[in-house]
Amino acid sequence: MELGYWRISLLLLVSLVLANHLDHFQGWKGFEEKPMSKKNMNLTLKFFIESYNNASNDTYLFRVDKLLRSQMQLTTGVEYIATVKISRTKCKKNKGRNNTCATQSKKKLKKSLICDFFIYTVPWMNFYELWNNSCLEG
Ligand SMILES: *[C@@H]1O[C@H](CO)[C@@H](O)[C@H](O)[C@H]1NC(C)=O
Ligand SMILES: *[C@@H]1O[C@H](CO)[C@@H](O)[C@H](O)[C@H]1NC(C)=O
Ligand SMILES: *[C@@H]1O[C@H](CO)[C@@H](O)[C@H](O)[C@H]1NC(C)=O
Ligand SMILES: *[C@@H]1O[C@H](CO)[C@@H](O)[C@H](O)[C@H]1NC(C)=O
Ligand SMILES: *[C@@H]1O[C@H](CO)[C@@H](O)[C@H](O)[C@H]1NC(C)=O
Repeated sequence: MELGYWRISLLLLVSLVLANHLDHFQGWKGFEEKPMSKKNMNLTLKFFIESYNNASNDTYLFRVDKLLRSQMQLTTGVEYIATVKISRTKCKKNKGRNNTCATQSKKKLKKSLICDFFIYTVPWMNFYELWNNSCLEG
């Protein structure tokens, strides 16, 4: 009788531990369709557009118009895959940064792109790295 009770307890304990482990692993499997936290999103988008503008040879700065989609994955940090719409602003690149740059309204200068990017961040260390990005006219 006593032995049976112990066996059941042990079985319960083992399955609990196993279930916990499974949950744990599922949390690490693949990207989740999940909105970024507001703060992380702002900082990540800011980092992305800054990297984009740094690398771009356009006369004007671009800015993020809209976050279209984002997915995240926890690894040693936080990995984000996102799709954004960016547009050319009226601010020239060499004139310094300006948070209040309006988008171009002149037909000839209007330009929008749809960009996919992959950014690795360690938010608690303020670390950002652009691993991948590609933009298409859209
Ligand atoms: C994120 O940015 C938006 C506008 O770009 C702003 O309204 C909002 O307050 C920001 N949120 C945080 C948490 O910084
Ligand atoms: C963009 O370029 C400036 C000046 O060279 C640099 O200080 C900044 O770190 C760069 N930003 C990114 C995100 O690469
Ligand atoms: C600017 O970059 C684009 C590709 O991003 C390239 O097609 C174009 O030739 C470049 N222009 C100059 C002046 O380097
Ligand atoms: C920043 O934007 C403001 C308002 O549009 C403008 O008056 C100012 O000249 C801009 N600064 C730069 C450096 O472009
Ligand atoms: C990153 O690069 C790989 C290989 O070039 C590509 O398959 C993938 O779609 C890219 N991801 C993003 C978000 O650009």
